[in-house]
Amino acid sequence: MSHLIAPSVLAANFADLRSDIEMVNESAADWFHVDIMDGVFVPNISFGFPVLDAIRRYAKKPLDVHLMIVDPDRYIEQFAAAGAAVITVHYEACRHLHRTIGAIRSLGCRAGVALNPHTPVSLLDDVLEDLDMVLVMSVNPGFGGQKFISRTYEKLRALKALAAGRKDDLLIEVDGGVNLSNAPDLINAGANVLVAGNFVFSAENPGEVIGSMKGITPGTRLA
Ligand code: DX5
Ligand code: ZN
Repeated sequence: MSHLIAPSVLAANFADLRSDIEMVNESAADWFHVDIMDGVFVPNISFGFPVLDAIRRYAKKPLDVHLMIVDPDRYIEQFAAAGAAVITVHYEACRHLHRTIGAIRSLGCRAGVALNPHTPVSLLDDVLEDLDMVLVMSVNPGFGGQKFISRTYEKLRALKALAAGRKDDLLIEVDGGVNLSNAPDLINAGANVLVAGNFVFSAENPGEVIGSMKGITPGTRLA
C-alpha cells in the first residue's frame, strides 16, 4: 500500500475554513485529520461537534478523528454519527481499551489507538489484531507546530515488527512535526499514514506540499 496523507485541520485558517477544506479536496491528500482536544487529557481545547459538522459538510475525503479526550467512550457514538471514518482514542485515556475498540468497530468505523511519546508499542500486543490503526505521536499531544521527537523512528520499527505476520495491513500513522525532511525516513521506518498540520497550512502553496508528500517513493530520501 502506498502511504496516505492526512492534513491536520487544526492548522487551517478557521476564519476561512471552507477554502482550506476545498484546497484539501482538490489536493492529493487522502484524509482529513481532525484533532479533538478537551482541555483535560491535553492542556488545550480545539473544537467540538459544530465545527466537525461544518467540516463534514464540505469535506469530500474521509474524516480521521483523533480524540485527545478523557473517557472517550462517552462520545464515540456521537463522533460516528458526525461522519468519522476512523476514530482514534488514546491508550492513556482508556480503562477498557478492548471494549472501546469493539464499540468503535460496531458503529462501522475503523478503530485506531494513539500512543503518547512515553507509551511503548508493546502495550498493544494483546489488542493488535482488533485494531485498524495505531497512531504514533511524535510530539506530546495538545498543540500543532511542535518539534518532532526522533525516538519515533525506533517506535515505528518496533510496531512494524510487532505487526509482521499478524496484522500486515495495519495502518501506522505518525502525527506531530512531520515535514518533507523527515517524511521519507518515517515511511522507511514503517509509517503509512502521515499527518501534517503546520508544514502544510503555513506553506505558500499547501496543495503542492501535499502533492510532494504524497509523491515520496519508499526507499528515497529527499533531505
Ligand atoms: C497534536 C495533534 C496533531 C497536530 C499536528 O496534538 O494531534 O495532529 O495538529 O500538527 P503539526 O504537524 O503542526 O505538528
Ligand atoms: Zn492529531
